[in-house]
Amino acid sequence: MPAPPIALSRDEVHVHCTWLDGLDDPALLASYAELMTPEERARNARYLFERSRREHLVGRALVRTTLSRYADVAPGAWRFREGERGRPEIEGPAGAPPLRFNLSHTTGLVAVAVAIDRDVGVDVEDAARQRTTAEIADRFFSPREVADLRALPAADQRDRFFTYWTLKEAYIKAVGLGLAIPLDHFTFLLEPPGPLAIAFAPERDDDPSAWQFERWRPSARHHLAMAVRRGAGPDLRVIVRDVVPFADARARSGSSG
Ligand SMILES: CC(C)(COP(=O)(O)OP(=O)(O)OC[C@H]1O[C@@H](n2cnc3c(N)ncnc32)[C@H](O)[C@@H]1OP(=O)(O)O)[C@@H](O)C(=O)NCCC(=O)NCCS
Repeated sequence: MPAPPIALSRDEVHVHCTWLDGLDDPALLASYAELMTPEERARNARYLFERSRREHLVGRALVRTTLSRYADVAPGAWRFREGERGRPEIEGPAGAPPLRFNLSHTTGLVAVAVAIDRDVGVDVEDAARQRTTAEIADRFFSPREVADLRALPAADQRDRFFTYWTLKEAYIKAVGLGLAIPLDHFTFLLEPPGPLAIAFAPERDDDPSAWQFERWRPSARHHLAMAVRRGAGPDLRVIVRDVVPFADARARSGSSG
């Protein structure tokens, strides 16, 4: 049975999360595979590891079934095109609402963010996966972010690293340019009293006040961040849901801090 429709207003962003552990019902997975285009199937088969194939399969199903909750379009009827740097966008069917989305997957978790007519990016990371965090930060993060990390007790640095990482990924994914944007051309400001904010180096022509960011710890090992081009005006309402495509959908939490 299709999941019930959800209303999405222009001042909202919705994030749908699917947990992969235990998601192994063969009939359910077969229903996801049926949604794939021949190109998607061919790409899925090219992943070397079963884990990556599963993430990709569930990601595709999550995107299609999620979009269908916001439009009278069957999950299999969505058509996508790739932007200049590989960012998937909705191409059809004709008459579909102007939804924008972004997908991220990591070990155990897949997430998609959806908004109306706005740049949106999402990133999930499994902190248990990456070992050499300090070296990556030194090499790629901005000097201020590196100094902030290094000032923390060693036990807290790893957590902070993934907070920066997911926020930085969410921003470059929202913009759609991927790693064509040097990661040290923008800095996240995490500490209160101000809200979670971004600052840009002179090389990066963007307006910090146009952006809204959110971050969560959806599990002890997972980090999740979302970036949305809010424009002028108050913050958008952000809703996060845990869903299982074709099986279940329930709200997990309201807006984040
Ligand atoms: C491709 C990239 C956009 C995201 O890669 P990632 O973090 O490894 O992977 P995610 O799971 O978060 O995102 C992949 C999804 O983003 C989408 N995507 C692809 N290109 C994209 C782009 N240019 N912009 C936004 N989204 C994009 C796709 O839906 C893709 O899923 P698919 O491969 O199943 O189709 C890019 O940022 C990248 O190559 N990152 C490398 C990771 C890195 O070094 N990060 C340093 C952070 S500090």
